[in-house]
Amino acid sequence: SSPLNVAIIGMGTVGSGVAKILLDRADQMTNRAGRPIHLKRAVVRDLSRPRNIELAEGVLTDDIDSVLNDDDIDVIIQLVGGIDPAYDIMLRALESGKDVVTANKALLCEKGESLYQRARELGRCICFEAAVAGGVPLIETVTQAMSANQITSIEAILNGTSNYILTQMFSHDVSYDDAVKSAQEIGYAEADPAMDVDGTDAAQKLGILVQLSLGIKVGLDEFLRQGIDTLSLADLKYASELGYTVKLLAVANLIDGQLEMHAQPTLIRNDNPLAHVEDAYNKIALEGDAVGKIWLSGMGAGQMATASAVVANLIDVAVGRAAITFPRLDLWNPRHDIKIMPRE
Ligand code: HSE
Repeated sequence: SSPLNVAIIGMGTVGSGVAKILLDRADQMTNRAGRPIHLKRAVVRDLSRPRNIELAEGVLTDDIDSVLNDDDIDVIIQLVGGIDPAYDIMLRALESGKDVVTANKALLCEKGESLYQRARELGRCICFEAAVAGGVPLIETVTQAMSANQITSIEAILNGTSNYILTQMFSHDVSYDDAVKSAQEIGYAEADPAMDVDGTDAAQKLGILVQLSLGIKVGLDEFLRQGIDTLSLADLKYASELGYTVKLLAVANLIDGQLEMHAQPTLIRNDNPLAHVEDAYNKIALEGDAVGKIWLSGMGAGQMATASAVVANLIDVAVGRAAITFPRLDLWNPRHDIKIMPRE
C-alpha cells in the first residue's frame, strides 16, 4: 500500500535518532505501520554542517517552505524547539493538511490549547509522546489507559538532565560544571541547558500534564519553579546523612477542587521509590480516582529513547490510532471548576 510520507524539521539529536530508526529498521516499521514510512525530506538550517547519518540524495534541504507546501508529505515531525518559529511551522503544517508529531514541550505548554483546538477544527492530529518524559509512554497512559479516571495527583521526576547532574555530583564526585557539560555531550540537555537546570523544562512538562489530566492551563509564572542550579554538593551530602535524597520534583495535586502545583528540588525519603531514580531516568506517579496509583519509569532524555516515542507516534498516525485520540484534546477534560492555589 502507499507509503506514509514524512518530513523531519530539525535534525538535531532527536531528529537524527528518528531518521536512524526509520532507515535502519525500515522493514520492521513497515510491518508495524501496515505500510512503508518514507522519510522524504529532512529540513536543516545549515546544509554544510557535517552529519553522522547517511540520507539519500535530495532528502536533506534548508528550504522549509518547499516541505510545508509539498502535498505529498503526510506528516511533519516538528523538532524545532522554543515558540518562535515553531508555532508558525506547526500551524502551517496543520493548515496544509498534515498531521504533526512533536517533542516541543515549551510550545505545547504555552500554546497547547489553541493548537489542539486548531488541529481539531482541521481534522488533524498533534502527537507529542516525546515532549514529556522522553521514551516513557506517559501521554499514552494519561490519554488512553487512564481515560476512565479523574487524575488527582502527579508526582514526577521529569527532567533527565537535572537528575543526571545530581547523580553525577553525588555518586560519582563530578563537579556541577563538568556534569552539565557531559549532559550536553551525551545529548540529554536542551540546546540551552539553562532551561534544564533552572526547572523550566520540568515545569513545562508538568504544565502539559496538568492541561491534559485536569483540563486547565496553568502559566509558568502561576506556580513555584526552582531548579537544581541552586544546590551544592554539601546540600546533597547533608540530605543523605538524614536519610533523604534530593530530586527535582514536579508535583500537581488536586485537593478539594483546588490545584496545588510546583517544580522544585525536594527532599525525598530514601524509602520512596522516587529517591532511587538515577542518571537521565524519569519516574512518574499518577493517581486516578478509579485505578489508584500508577508508576511509570524509563529514560526521560537522550537520542534513541526520545526517538522511540516519536516513531511510535508516527505508527499511531499510520494505523489511524492518532486520528482517534489526538484531534479532540482541547475537549478532553474541561474542568472550569478547578481553582489554582496561589503560590506561596
Ligand atoms: N532536556 C530534557 C531532559 C530532554 O533532560 O529531560 C527530554 O525532554
